[in-house]
Amino acid sequence: LEEMKSFKRPEMFEFKGVTMINYFTDNWDNIQNFQARPDDILIATYPKAGTTWVSYILDLLYFGKTCPERQTSLPIYMRVPFLEMTIPVLPPGKELADKLPTSPRLIKTHLPIQFVPKSFWEQNSRVIYVARNAKDNAVSYFHFDRMNMAQPEPGDWNSFIKRFMEGKVVFGSWYDHVCGWWEKKQTYSNLHYMFFEDLVEDTGRELERLCSFLGLSTSVEEREQIRTGVQFDAMKKNKMTNYSTVSVMDFKVSPFMRKGKVGDWKNHFTVAQNEEFDEDYKNKMKNTTLRFRTEL
Ligand code: A3P
Repeated sequence: LEEMKSFKRPEMFEFKGVTMINYFTDNWDNIQNFQARPDDILIATYPKAGTTWVSYILDLLYFGKTCPERQTSLPIYMRVPFLEMTIPVLPPGKELADKLPTSPRLIKTHLPIQFVPKSFWEQNSRVIYVARNAKDNAVSYFHFDRMNMAQPEPGDWNSFIKRFMEGKVVFGSWYDHVCGWWEKKQTYSNLHYMFFEDLVEDTGRELERLCSFLGLSTSVEEREQIRTGVQFDAMKKNKMTNYSTVSVMDFKVSPFMRKGKVGDWKNHFTVAQNEEFDEDYKNKMKNTTLRFRTEL
């Protein structure tokens, strides 16, 4: 609690054309020089698209059986380091990643495609990108910025949604992020592009698709066990996956595991905001084949 009170929210600035905060740029050269390995698995997302969910699924797929104590001794953000992060209350992500004793190493990033350390491409590492529809993604990001003192002050919902549309939020434009990674997928075959909405709709099916991408053979029972363990309520109760151990997050404002739904945007957008958003969306997304579902 003391840590949270004394924590000063960071300022945003333009960094190589993308809105960032110093917690993700301070270690820049080291991050750019990160040495990937061929068996590394990079989990890439725009913030609040389902990073933790997919991180936990992968951790269980690879280590759930061989190393069960891992699930109760280390929070998920220590098991799956956040590569570009340097925040005072945690060890730098790059350091954690370098020190990971496991194989494969599971590594998380929110970097837009042009900032990804080139070593991942040179090593032909496997990459899993998770995308979430813009409206729910924006709502989730708004509540996250409210509760996380390591993020900029979100302001009210109306100003936040305007900034989101302008790409003036941490890690920049959602539109550029999802499209940039989508484009990469067209030429880089080791990239599995998945959707938050598909995971909500049918977690079991998405698990099967993941296993087939990763070349993992798992039994029906094992997949069923994982599917149950990664359900929203289970993860919300689980101290190792619900982020309750992070000092700069104020769960009284909003919990990390907040709703986990598709379509919660309807409880936030006014009719006018929705119309403006849709109009702008059509324009920003007119050159991509990427399609999202905003309801199930
Ligand atoms: P909401 O704020 O809409 O609830 P990230 O891990 O990228 O920060 O994403 C967090 C979002 O994913 C939050 O969305 C969180 O509730 C949701 N989430 C995490 N685990 C989930 C699960 N097992 N099922 C559904 N949603 C989940």
